[in-house]
Amino acid sequence: MSTSSNPLRDALDRRLPRIAGPSGLVIFGVTGDLSRKKLMPAVYDLANRGLLPPGFSLIGFARRDWENEDFAQIVHDAVKEHSRTPFREEVWQQLVQGCRFVQGDFDDDAAFETLKSTIQELDKQQGTGGNFAFYLSVPPKWFPKVVQQLKKHGLADQKEGSWRRAVIEKPFGHDLASAQELNKVVHEVFPTEEVFRIDHYLGKETVQNILALRFANTLFEPIWNRSYVDHVQITMAEDIGIGGRAGYYDGIGAARDVIQNHLLQLLALTAMEEPASFDADALVAEKTKVLGAVRLPKDLGKETVRGQYAHGWQGGEEVVGYLEEEGIDPNSKTDTYAAIKLEIDNRRWAGVPFYLRTGKRLGRRVTEIAVVFQRAPHSPFDHTATEELGQNALVIRVQPDEGVTLRFGSKVPGTQMEVRDVSMDFAYGESFTESSPEAYERLILDVLLGDANLFPRLKEVELSWQILDPIEQYWESNGKPASYPAGTWGPVEADEMLARDGRSWRRP
Ligand code: BG6
Repeated sequence: MSTSSNPLRDALDRRLPRIAGPSGLVIFGVTGDLSRKKLMPAVYDLANRGLLPPGFSLIGFARRDWENEDFAQIVHDAVKEHSRTPFREEVWQQLVQGCRFVQGDFDDDAAFETLKSTIQELDKQQGTGGNFAFYLSVPPKWFPKVVQQLKKHGLADQKEGSWRRAVIEKPFGHDLASAQELNKVVHEVFPTEEVFRIDHYLGKETVQNILALRFANTLFEPIWNRSYVDHVQITMAEDIGIGGRAGYYDGIGAARDVIQNHLLQLLALTAMEEPASFDADALVAEKTKVLGAVRLPKDLGKETVRGQYAHGWQGGEEVVGYLEEEGIDPNSKTDTYAAIKLEIDNRRWAGVPFYLRTGKRLGRRVTEIAVVFQRAPHSPFDHTATEELGQNALVIRVQPDEGVTLRFGSKVPGTQMEVRDVSMDFAYGESFTESSPEAYERLILDVLLGDANLFPRLKEVELSWQILDPIEQYWESNGKPASYPAGTWGPVEADEMLARDGRSWRRP
């Protein structure tokens, strides 16, 4: 939709680089892994690409007994180790001017007063203009405390001509009731448009490309429905175990960790109708419609599977099972694997199963969406029976090896008319010289610009919990997760689940 009476000017404006105005970022939980591996490097990469204002400021808030210099050193090391763009001394020297550290507990009033005066000082010295985003990279139990402290100390006040924003890492609650409760607390302090819930999958180029693929082309949309699609498989497989995250992961599990957010967002983008525009409101309207139409499995025992990895081998190395991991309750029933069959009750998708699966310690790291098409109704080829023809598939390779693959049948060279499956590939690395920003880079920039398109709204979060809650409740009262050896593709029960439908999981 054009915003002025000059469409040419609008088109040119859209091509201008998106550069953040005067602003700063406060990170709570700055000593955590996410901050070191993702947030600090993302800030540096943005600065390095010239997308941050010269006076941009970064404040770390944590309990550690650090001075500003110690914090600057931590940021420096994290940037050197994890940033994606080359280290440039002049960019670093500029960034470090705005680095500050505030020491304290989340219930320490004096620390929040220090935070307030640090922000005021940065406004004067760095020209941050009072615009600050507060990034809550802390365990969810601390969200209410931190936002209440921000309110109590006047840090969340929206003053004329400036903004204050809250950025909230997932998980947003652990079920519907807790998500709603949390939301109440956050919205007592921040207005809706200033709350940014992070689902970093939406920051990935390949995820945004689902919309381009579907709605910028004429090729796919006519067959993107129950008349042609047999089923859809959405896989997020990881080869890593839980690493040092026992405290967070145990009791949460794979389904809450990634199906409730990343995988259901992928489902929504794959299945939704074309939005009127790419504004946050229009996107949310379509995503919520489709999430609201999701139908739970009729038989939760047969159409969902949860698993837990046992001792096994991965990449030639012996790895321990989940229950032997450090910090895990040896009787834990936490799922490290989950597979769920969902259907969507609308005209486009009625009767088409969407199989979602995720797991830790699986065969390899891969995230993909495979839209698998129906078989040709009959085969006129003497040497290939209908049931031997493969099923056409469009596979969106989210990561690694980002791209899209189209699978279709082709004649095998020779004197007979034999048909075999082949692939046609689009790979980002080969087709584009532009490099993809890291998901957190894109999302932090969007927060600073106040652009909410890639952030789930509360309604989506609620609908996703509504889908997951009954499944979690069923699992809780029905036995233990099925076991699978580390390094394999999950429990046999998951294969049986698809076999009952006459289908099988892809082995990506
Ligand atoms: C996070 C989950 O949201 O996503 C982790 O909490 C998971 O358990 C991670 O490992 C995977 O992210 P990515 O971008 O590496 O696929």
